[in-house]
Amino acid sequence: MKEVLIKTKLTACLQDELTLELRDLVEAAKAKTRDAYCPYSHYYVGAAALLADGQVWTGSNQENAAYPSGLCAERTTLFAANANNPKTPVVALAIACYSNGHFTEDPASPCGACRQVMLETEHRFGQPMKVVLYGERECYVFDSAADLLPVCFTNDNLA
Ligand code: THU
Repeated sequence: MKEVLIKTKLTACLQDELTLELRDLVEAAKAKTRDAYCPYSHYYVGAAALLADGQVWTGSNQENAAYPSGLCAERTTLFAANANNPKTPVVALAIACYSNGHFTEDPASPCGACRQVMLETEHRFGQPMKVVLYGERECYVFDSAADLLPVCFTNDNLA
C-alpha cells in the first residue's frame, strides 16, 4: 500500500498581471455575466473562450424552471465555440462570477461537469487550454484543464 500525493500547479495573480490577451479574455467573461439567465440562483457566470485563430466566443449560465435542464456558462461557451468551429482549438478559457452586486472575491470554481467538458476540449484538439478563474482578490491561472481534474475519465478509458 502507498500514498500518492497529486500536485497541481496554478499561478495566482491580479487581472492586471495577466498577459494582455488573457486580461482581455477575463474582461469578456466579466462582461458576459450581464447576459446570464439565472432567475433561480441569481448567480451570474460568464465565460470567454479564445480560439487558436483569435476568435473569442462568450457564454453565460442559462437556467430553467426544470432545474437540471439549465447549463453552466463554461459548457454553454465551449459547446457553442466547438459546434461552430469544430476544427479550431480553444487555447484559453476565462470564467467570472457575479453575485450579490459584485464579482466574487475568490476565483471562480468550475463544477465537475464543466471540468470534464474542458478536459475533453483539450483532448479533442490535442493541445492544452489555459484556464483563468477570475476573482476580485486574485485570479488563478492553470496551464491546462487537466490540472483541474486529476485522475480523470477520458476516451483512453473507453479503449
Ligand atoms: N454555474 C456556472 O455557470 N458555472 C459553474 O462553474 C458553477 C455554477 C451556474 C449554474 C447555475 O446557473 C448557477 O451557477 C448556480 O449554481
